Amino acid sequence: MGININNNIFTLHTLGSTYQMKVDEKKILLHTYYGKRTDDTDYSYLLEMADRGFSGNIPQAKDERTYSLDFLPQEFPVWGSGDYRVNCLVADLGSGANDCLLVFDRYAVYKGKYELQGLPAMFASEDEAETLEIVLKDYHENFYVHLYYGVYEKYDVITRAAVLENNTDKEIKISRIMSSCLDMNRSDMDMIHFHGRHANEREFERTPLFHGISELRSTRGTSSHQHNPFIILSDKNTDENIGDCYGFSLLYSGGFHMQAEVDQTNQLRVVMGIDDSDFKWSLQPGELFYSPEVCMSYSNSGFSKLSRNYHDAFLNNLIRSAWKDKQRPVLVNNWEATYFDFDGNKLLDIAKEAKTLGLDMLVLDDGWFGKRDSDYSGLGDWYVNEKKLGCSLRELTDRINEIGLKFGIWFEPEMISEDSDLYREHPDFALKLPDREPVRGRSQLVLDMSRKEVCDYIKERLFAIMDSANIEYIKWDMNRSLAAAYSIALPGERQGELRHRYVLGLYSILEELLNRYPNLLLEGCSGGGGRFDAGMLYYCPQIWCSDNTDAIERLHIQYGTSFAYPMSSVSAHVSVCPNHQNGRVTPFKTRGICAMQGTFGYELDLSKMTEDEKILAKEQVETFKKHYKLFQFGDYYRIESPIENRDFTAWEYADKNGTEASISVVFTDMHGNHLPHFVKFKGLLSDRKYNVCRDGEFVGVHTGAALMNGGILLPVPKENYDSCWFYICLEE
Ligand code: GLA
Repeated sequence: MGININNNIFTLHTLGSTYQMKVDEKKILLHTYYGKRTDDTDYSYLLEMADRGFSGNIPQAKDERTYSLDFLPQEFPVWGSGDYRVNCLVADLGSGANDCLLVFDRYAVYKGKYELQGLPAMFASEDEAETLEIVLKDYHENFYVHLYYGVYEKYDVITRAAVLENNTDKEIKISRIMSSCLDMNRSDMDMIHFHGRHANEREFERTPLFHGISELRSTRGTSSHQHNPFIILSDKNTDENIGDCYGFSLLYSGGFHMQAEVDQTNQLRVVMGIDDSDFKWSLQPGELFYSPEVCMSYSNSGFSKLSRNYHDAFLNNLIRSAWKDKQRPVLVNNWEATYFDFDGNKLLDIAKEAKTLGLDMLVLDDGWFGKRDSDYSGLGDWYVNEKKLGCSLRELTDRINEIGLKFGIWFEPEMISEDSDLYREHPDFALKLPDREPVRGRSQLVLDMSRKEVCDYIKERLFAIMDSANIEYIKWDMNRSLAAAYSIALPGERQGELRHRYVLGLYSILEELLNRYPNLLLEGCSGGGGRFDAGMLYYCPQIWCSDNTDAIERLHIQYGTSFAYPMSSVSAHVSVCPNHQNGRVTPFKTRGICAMQGTFGYELDLSKMTEDEKILAKEQVETFKKHYKLFQFGDYYRIESPIENRDFTAWEYADKNGTEASISVVFTDMHGNHLPHFVKFKGLLSDRKYNVCRDGEFVGVHTGAALMNGGILLPVPKENYDSCWFYICLEE
């Protein structure tokens, strides 16, 4: 199995990777290897002990100047130990100084996977994963750190988390806790990360590491549009198909911090965890603190394999929704169709047209509750505005169900408008400093989710609406970042706990919601993809990828998203042209092809479409439904990148057995005297023959070998942003 322990050497094997730690004679837990799968060799022979000067020697080393944590690779480095690099823990154990020093105490191995109280975490049956727990103890005090390792052999995934335990009789003050550390004896690597902004999330960026600290963080209280809590470290020559790379995904939806430090001896340290910019936690005697989980994966055959490791691991062992294996409804959302300007009849018009086109669900977006005809008021008042709808929610959903559609609804439960009955009654529910004018965002305030009574109010309203009508889907939105956040429920010196307590409050509501309505399809959203992280995926099998629905910008956004997250989690809709975000005009066909890259739907007034558009939409819905299994469960390959290829972007889904595949192509530029372009399939059976169709028309038969090595010729684009779609399947 995956975990071998011998002589204080802990070797974790997955199918393609090996990870090793060793407890040395000073009882320090060293990290000795992570990379391509090998045997159980004790890699500590690679460590060089030297007196490097100005490197501290821990008490156990006495005058042994060649022993310093300043250059030794470790599993969980702490501040104050004479290691001056970025660390995992800053803790005041009662002296007033941050004075922790951790040594090995004990270990245990379990079948299956550990859980993290109150936090999302990957799960597993007893034969899918194994857990190693290593317990470290402070050299002087009864303060313990439990390091957890979940080993998923099949996916080349190792998860990590740390749990702090105060077994002393004093308060322990934590001001930084990272979930994981990876030390490597090399640093000639690139870091890949995904940055962005509202309506332009997860842009791929690759930069070389340098001496010093490369860091990414979100201080916004959410994982954010600006940086995604996922990075890749790779060899310089790694590309989609070859080379070593390591992925790190943090399963957390609040602010995060990720640092990669190249030190004085050219070693690399990577740490990842909760944003520590104003974090403080008071750990009382007898209490535990759970860090969020990090999911690491290694590939020695490029980014494509690394992404598939994550896609498979997240699809099978992170997304817990009843919907993860089910065909998702093709939906129409009324946001870009009507914004706040709708009534029940308008929604029914859209629903009728949706049914004719073969769609499955209507989602009623913002504006159905309280006083909410603009985004200046109403948040918190989760009471149906029957006057606006012209009927009750039950009447509306009954009529939509009679038409033959399911019904879904938008909520933004974490927010409160100052112009709302809730705020007039409970101004203290909002996060804001006493006697100060609040910092607003989208003219709204954030609810204090760290407080039980606030969470109870949200649940009471959510459940009341859910129970009042046949609601099968919720879009859970969150439309601002936290700022000047202050909770009246926490004493002044404990305000540093607020942001993490907020996230725990959010998770507790999501947990209860899904336990109460296990068949609910929950779609995550935060101004589009501002909280697109693996923590939210635990609850939401799909997340609205971006408020930008322009097909061409979506090529970039969905490209970046695909590195960590399965494509079935990427919610993508066809919208009108000129596009509402950037004014671009693209063919209806191309908008369909781009939206089918993820979980498909429409976001326009279907009743205003032209007859030609209706024919195309009907075909798109049929195509998506017909090939759903391939799109949801097939292996995903990035064939041509929108960053490197100016002329076209392409992506592929291939059935895991190689029986069928598809490649979608979107042309992003046109030229006089056009040059020929080709795409090459991946993941086919070389010696079998495939029928090849382009845009539904049969165009020939080729062997897998030919399609993978020679490829296939693309048609000449006929208009700006033209596109085409290949589908191949084994010849009978
Ligand atoms: C956010 C979402 C949109 C829409 C609006 C409604 O911006 O991302 O899809 O729901 O809120 O206000």
